[in-house]
Amino acid sequence: MSAPVRALVARGTGRDLAIEQVTLPPPAAGEVRVRIRAAGVCHSDLSMVNGTLAPPFPLVLGHEAAGVVTEVGDGVDRVTAGDHVVLNWAPACRQCWFCRHDEPWLCASSGGPAVARGHTEDGVPLHVTLGLGALAQEVVVPQAAVIPVPDALPWAQAALLGCAVLTGVGAVRNTAAVAAGDSVAVIGLGGVGLAALTAARTAGAGPIIAVDVSSAKAALARAAGATEFLLADDRLSKSIRELTEGRGVDHAFECVGRAATIRTAWRSARRGGHVTVVGMGARDDELTLGALDIFHSARTLRSSVYGSSDPDREVPELARAVLDGSLELAPLITDRIGLDAAPAAFDRMIRGEGARSVVVF
Ligand code: APR
Ligand code: ZN
Repeated sequence: MSAPVRALVARGTGRDLAIEQVTLPPPAAGEVRVRIRAAGVCHSDLSMVNGTLAPPFPLVLGHEAAGVVTEVGDGVDRVTAGDHVVLNWAPACRQCWFCRHDEPWLCASSGGPAVARGHTEDGVPLHVTLGLGALAQEVVVPQAAVIPVPDALPWAQAALLGCAVLTGVGAVRNTAAVAAGDSVAVIGLGGVGLAALTAARTAGAGPIIAVDVSSAKAALARAAGATEFLLADDRLSKSIRELTEGRGVDHAFECVGRAATIRTAWRSARRGGHVTVVGMGARDDELTLGALDIFHSARTLRSSVYGSSDPDREVPELARAVLDGSLELAPLITDRIGLDAAPAAFDRMIRGEGARSVVVF
């Protein structure tokens, strides 16, 4: 039996988050134990506890993290103790129809919002977010959920590769394939939207229009690559048109997760333009578009799950880009905190303050 570890636990929808002692099982065959060194606070963790999703509780939050392998179960051949790894919340089975057709981000074996693992201090069966539960001192996960990265990669930036960066950068590069000279709007400037801006800049896009309800995001957006910042108000799609010779942008990215902002993204794109939904919204938040508008606008609307990425291939590529200076992640991280301060980081996210808060262990 393993020693208890400290973890950020949600006990139910709308209930206060707390640091609890939890006990994880030792790694079974094919599993590894990872000591977490850094873990980001992502909006999808908030979606676990604010009613957007309905996961089982009690639940360890967190799914964006990096750490050191400390123990491996029988038959593990992917990593050994001491390896630095980024966690992957959608490990691919490599056998299902989607994996065989080069869409590992849609792997049929990917679980729901949480899986059962270990128990709380009072003996209640515990669940972990997206198979990870990474806002904790340790995780025990299948070896397919860890991706080795160079030891030189800074921990906080390594953590972000596992969700915000794969998601935001992948949406721009893989899902939308933004090209040099394309005009881009990114709506919602949390860790995901800021990562999308970074990728748009690297692609040579322009103008790159960043949009948020909070004017405090303007400086962060410019640091990440935006050439313009607009407040999300009633004039937004008109203002975007004014910046694009009256047409609208080639690519609009929705990084909030609401029907209203998907609609804004739709209206911001030009005729024949592309709208990529990156935010994860609620089941009952419905989007209405006019049938004539859909026809006449000739736009495409699609979503991007995990940046349409193959994390096993792309996390090491992104890690190399961070190390050679071609991918600049510093603007995405505004708060480095201890685990005890994680509940307050959720409050900051609800208020739309800062970019990523990263718990450093
Ligand atoms: N218009 C524009 N921006 C908005 C609006 C709006 N109506 N409402 C909220 N925002 C902004 C917030 O001010 C904040 O800056 O969207 C941003 C969201 O940032 P975070 O809460 O940090 O979210 P993030 O972790 O980046 O995730 C964004 O992607 O993976 C999904 O589930 C995730 O749906 C979420 C989205
Ligand atoms: Zn996430």
